[in-house]
Amino acid sequence: DPGEHSAQPKRRSAEELRSRRWFGPADLRSFGHRSRAMQMGYSPEEWTGRPVIAIVNTWSDLQPCHAHFKTRVEDVKRGILMAGGFPVELPAISVSESFVKPTTMMYRNMLAMETEELLRSHPVDGAVLMGGCDKSTPGLLLGATSMNIPAIYLPAGPMLRGNWQGKTLGSGSDSWKYWDELRAGKITDQDWLGVEGGIARSYGTCMTMGTASTMTAIAEACGMVLPGGSSVLAADAGHIRLASESGRRIVEMVWEDLTPQKIQSRKAYENAIAVAMAMGCSTNAIIHLIAMARRAGQDIGLDDFERYSRRVPVIGNVRPSGNQYLMEDFFYAGGIRGLMNNIREHLHLDCLTVSGRTVGENIEGAKVYNDDVIRPLSNPIYGQGSLAVLKGNLAPSGCVIKPAAMDQKFLKHSGPAVVFDDYPSMKKAVDDESYPFTPDSVLVLRNAGPQGGPGMPEWGMLPMPKKLLKMGLRDMLRLSDARMSGTSYGACVLHVAPESYIGGPLALLRTGDIVSIDVEARTIDMEVSDEELERRRAAWAPPPARFERGYGFMFTKHIQQADEGCDFDFLRTEFGAPVPEPVI
Ligand code: FES
Ligand code: MG
Repeated sequence: DPGEHSAQPKRRSAEELRSRRWFGPADLRSFGHRSRAMQMGYSPEEWTGRPVIAIVNTWSDLQPCHAHFKTRVEDVKRGILMAGGFPVELPAISVSESFVKPTTMMYRNMLAMETEELLRSHPVDGAVLMGGCDKSTPGLLLGATSMNIPAIYLPAGPMLRGNWQGKTLGSGSDSWKYWDELRAGKITDQDWLGVEGGIARSYGTCMTMGTASTMTAIAEACGMVLPGGSSVLAADAGHIRLASESGRRIVEMVWEDLTPQKIQSRKAYENAIAVAMAMGCSTNAIIHLIAMARRAGQDIGLDDFERYSRRVPVIGNVRPSGNQYLMEDFFYAGGIRGLMNNIREHLHLDCLTVSGRTVGENIEGAKVYNDDVIRPLSNPIYGQGSLAVLKGNLAPSGCVIKPAAMDQKFLKHSGPAVVFDDYPSMKKAVDDESYPFTPDSVLVLRNAGPQGGPGMPEWGMLPMPKKLLKMGLRDMLRLSDARMSGTSYGACVLHVAPESYIGGPLALLRTGDIVSIDVEARTIDMEVSDEELERRRAAWAPPPARFERGYGFMFTKHIQQADEGCDFDFLRTEFGAPVPEPVI
């Protein structure tokens, strides 16, 4: 078709398939592979000359967001079979945000390693990646990008809106909100039980603009999801069709040799950042996007976010940046294709995607059906991007705040720090009404970063002191080297880098020091002289190691800081020599 972006891609032949090295040769080892495939009831006709497609499925019985993947995988298989491929399901760790402790962030890189090695060690030619819950999206994509065989991402889809007594409930956001109401004595224990039963009503990912919805949108914006796929609700029949279509498409992608490296250009990542900003993205997106881009060989950093943040306004009116709508509304309003069409002037339209077409072609003719949910650029819900990167003597390598989801009076603020070294002592203090918090206080938690947490737990929305809640206050300036849930809100400074646990300047802050923040100027400082900081540094001793064996030991030895994406150093693309294909 001469109107299309490129000529018909050169197709690979069956002889060139990677899996043929396992199944093809007339030798003893291939005899073993074939006889064992026949042991499972497959005939040679079913695999010979066909792309073998791995389906990396992150289903588990403790992963509510992916509950439907147990059967949805059959729809993916149907698509693969229809297109002439041979599907094989390879389960991977489900990184369940709700159940995995201390935090799924400890295990994102484990999923990344697992995905890469599953694909490397097995006879597969391409992969469908089934994820959606927060860390599963970057985990799967990091691994598939490093392995670099054709791969397509199938997002789980958002769950239905929550419902309680006819009121809409949003994942995360309303748990915090009603918890504060309960602590302030505004709702009863009985009400609270009602919220508990109504907030998560179907399988699928959190339906606020949390990390899950942000990351699946990013996966689509950087080209790895079929057009519109990241907005389709988990419980919609369209999701079943998306699953089989992803299966059909990956088989073609193998013949076209359309690999992640061909899709994930620097421009593709700039598109992802633009979409993240327009969606009012989760702060977690920054860490994951930096890690993903670097695996693809693109040097994306905090400065890129800062640049786009000043340029692209928030037009996705979805909580917590918006105050009313959820992903279900966003889907009905036209979904991500509608949003991307509205910000097309900020996108590189010529980027190639898994559809085999460009971003521009994918969003051609996209419509918005409710321009309060998906706003035009001329009527944003927040004029600048949803994230701001701050620097100063408290955070020389940067930290992050979400101005779109906080009380605007804290955009410029100075106040005395109240510093805690661990979560339990902070928790105790905020519940103690005699503790001397004032509305000006800056609540600080440290030792909550990549190594200190460990794993940067989502503690960054530090709980409001009970005393201030009872005064009717619902926000205050808070500061930590932790992350926060994408569904959280408030004047929370996060991801302080370098972290306090390894001796970043946050380690030197003391209760009573004045902390000053100016979001417009992008600064954050403690008003302590350099000489005094030097004295404090000389007296500082590193805390004891968190782990002395196991995965945690490897984690603390190799995890990088937040501004570098928290990847393991040895997984970086430019680290050492490339990993060879296995000897068969
Ligand atoms: Fe899985 Fe929120 S807990 S997406
Ligand atoms: Mg989350």
